[in-house]
Amino acid sequence: MKTPLKTFVSTLIAGSLLLAAESRWKSPMDLPPQPGLPDPLMRSDGSHVRSKSVWEHQRRPELKELFAHYMYGAIPEKPPGIHFVTKLSDSSFLGGGATLKLVEISFRDPEAPHLDLMVIVPNRLSKPAPVFLAMNFCGNDALIQDARVPLPKAWLNKSCAGCTDGHATEQSRGTQTRDWPVSEMIRRGYALATFCSADADADRGDISEGIHAWIAKHSNPPVPATAANRGTIAAWAWGFERCVDYLVTDGTIDPKRIAVVGHSRNGKTALLAAAFDERIALCVAHQAGCGGTAPSRGTVGESVQRINQVFPHWFNAEFKQFSTDPNRLPFDQHELIALVAPRPVLLGNAEADQWANPAGQFEMLKAADPVYRMLGVEGLFDARLPENGISLKGNLGYFIRPGNHSMTAGDWELFLDFADLHLRKSR
Ligand code: GCU
Repeated sequence: MKTPLKTFVSTLIAGSLLLAAESRWKSPMDLPPQPGLPDPLMRSDGSHVRSKSVWEHQRRPELKELFAHYMYGAIPEKPPGIHFVTKLSDSSFLGGGATLKLVEISFRDPEAPHLDLMVIVPNRLSKPAPVFLAMNFCGNDALIQDARVPLPKAWLNKSCAGCTDGHATEQSRGTQTRDWPVSEMIRRGYALATFCSADADADRGDISEGIHAWIAKHSNPPVPATAANRGTIAAWAWGFERCVDYLVTDGTIDPKRIAVVGHSRNGKTALLAAAFDERIALCVAHQAGCGGTAPSRGTVGESVQRINQVFPHWFNAEFKQFSTDPNRLPFDQHELIALVAPRPVLLGNAEADQWANPAGQFEMLKAADPVYRMLGVEGLFDARLPENGISLKGNLGYFIRPGNHSMTAGDWELFLDFADLHLRKSR
């Protein structure tokens, strides 16, 4: 008899064999160069998308397949037997203003990656709370000062404060509290749910120890999850999806008001997750830049070539073939934004962060706007950015503030303002 794990793995293998056998995927070098931005409302067969139904049933699935095939790799499937254990629930957190929950997400196979999700929910609301689900880079323990929060077990980058030999230590605790204004989120009536990217896949090219490594080990014959063909951003998006699996079961959270947020590489991931998972109601992709919210075409900021060289594990092998000629990509990042339509997307930027190409990101919103309009909602409120650099009213929101590449408490205020405008109304 086939166990669910065997069935899952055979399905994966059958899926890959099917892809390999299909000839519909042209090799990148056989794709025609398109120096201008591809039209999100034109299908691969050249026909125009004029209705919501054609968008939903044909163009949207087509774009999703293109992004998975030529750039990110597929978001891994959910391993069988997902399981949630609430290890701690303390309603006296923040002086009784919030409940702190520590939830472990695991699967039937104990070798599959575990995710530690930290959820902080306001106590005073009479209804389930809207939530910001954020992926963090240095561990949940860095965001609040609380010895009960488990340190991440996976490898962490040495840029994380308190990290020694690739691992979090007691010195890591509370090192990012300034940039994560949890009390303010609670005061404004939002919950925060957060997990560390390393639980889903470590951010290093040489070793994969997350979901891709698990899938590789269980495939027959084993297929190594090499840096050249891995898709770590897709693995992180898998992490977002598994946390959503939990959040929709938590009665204190409103399953219709789950917003995702991420900074930089985590912002690229938040956008990919929102594009592929329609349970996500709103997306904040902060300073995400190349491979996320900035165009792959053009010469401003980080290039496709550079990102592929320095972070080969983030994307799949096909994407490497666009390094010298990104004009051959059959899509650009405005179409990843458009996949979130009609749901709201906010792109946050900083003036000194030209590496993330803030102006190019605004062009991506403009180019995604026709999809929002076709679906009958307002996309960009104004095609020109207002003088104060903040445009939050449309479903395609944008801001640029002075300063550097960072996600600060001030940025969070704008995320909350955007959510107030777009999520509160669905109450
Ligand atoms: C590097 C990388 C960017 C990325 C950023 C980050 O600068 O080139 O693509 O967004 O790191 O994640 O902080």
